[in-house]
Amino acid sequence: MTNQNVILITGASSGMGYAATKLFAERGWQVFAGARRVEKIPQLTNVRALPLDVTDSASNQNFVTTAITEAGRIDVLLNNAGYGEFGPLEEVSMANVRKQLDTNLLGAAELAQFVLPTMRAQGSGRIINNSSIGGDLYSPLGGWYYVAKHALNTWSDVLDTEIRQFGLRSVVVAPGGTESSWGEIALKNVTKNLKADSPYQPMVDGTMQLMDRLTESSSATALDLAKVFYRAATDRLPHRRYYYSVADRMMSHFARVHAGAFHQVMNLAVKHFI
Ligand SMILES: NC(=O)c1ccc[n+]([C@@H]2O[C@H](COP(=O)([O-])OP(=O)(O)OC[C@H]3O[C@@H](n4cnc5c(N)ncnc54)[C@H](OP(=O)(O)O)[C@@H]3O)[C@@H](O)[C@H]2O)c1
Repeated sequence: MTNQNVILITGASSGMGYAATKLFAERGWQVFAGARRVEKIPQLTNVRALPLDVTDSASNQNFVTTAITEAGRIDVLLNNAGYGEFGPLEEVSMANVRKQLDTNLLGAAELAQFVLPTMRAQGSGRIINNSSIGGDLYSPLGGWYYVAKHALNTWSDVLDTEIRQFGLRSVVVAPGGTESSWGEIALKNVTKNLKADSPYQPMVDGTMQLMDRLTESSSATALDLAKVFYRAATDRLPHRRYYYSVADRMMSHFARVHAGAFHQVMNLAVKHFI
């Protein structure tokens, strides 16, 4: 069994997962890093790059079994893989809805099921779920993404109440706008999911312009978030939620505590900007 700390990171080929893989490896952790584009995972000492599709049970099982066989322990699972299946709720196909929930929610849940027996036997371990401030707030055209992130938050909280008795924790990191491929993929999906002659076209055009402006002012880098993951992995007493910025924390708080007012603000924003 290795004497290094061991972390499993999903979605390690880009953005925050890529940055986290580098950061944990540089800080001496043994990293099992998974993604579909395995060739894009950082090639570093301490990094074992593995093909992983979190929507595929056999792939999830193979990812975890490889780590247990080679390292003999698992200290942290970082459920990071995800994307935005954006598009109007009336028009996103059910096949794409399932793909969104399989990737952003059920993949994480299944990986947790596979790592927990090992963590329980160790009497230690942590599951970090990369959610979003979109786990508390929302906007038009991202419905299934927000549903998946809201559900991931609740799933993490329930899991935390079940596994603390074994010395284990499940926590959420909730990033706001962060530099990565995420925005580009979400925008591509809006267009893909829009039907010909869609009545939502003007809303999509307005939202795209707004998102472009918001992305320009993206405050955080992927490395910033990797450092938040590191805190979540190593804090002696971990928090239930981690935010990168005070603004992210405040927006989430407002949407959660003043849900009616938030909904009104969103409708006003649609009327005036979209
Ligand atoms: N960027 C933001 O503004 C932002 C804000 C809040 C939350 N988030 C969340 O942060 C997480 C990381 O996203 P990012 O911003 O770093 O975006 P990104 O650069 O697009 O990276 C997404 C990663 O997820 C992986 N992935 C997607 N589907 C997968 C699948 N089926 N199986 C395995 N891996 C899969 C991708 O790898 P492959 O394609 O190679 O498989 C890629 O490595 C996501 O959960 C996202 O929802 C992002």
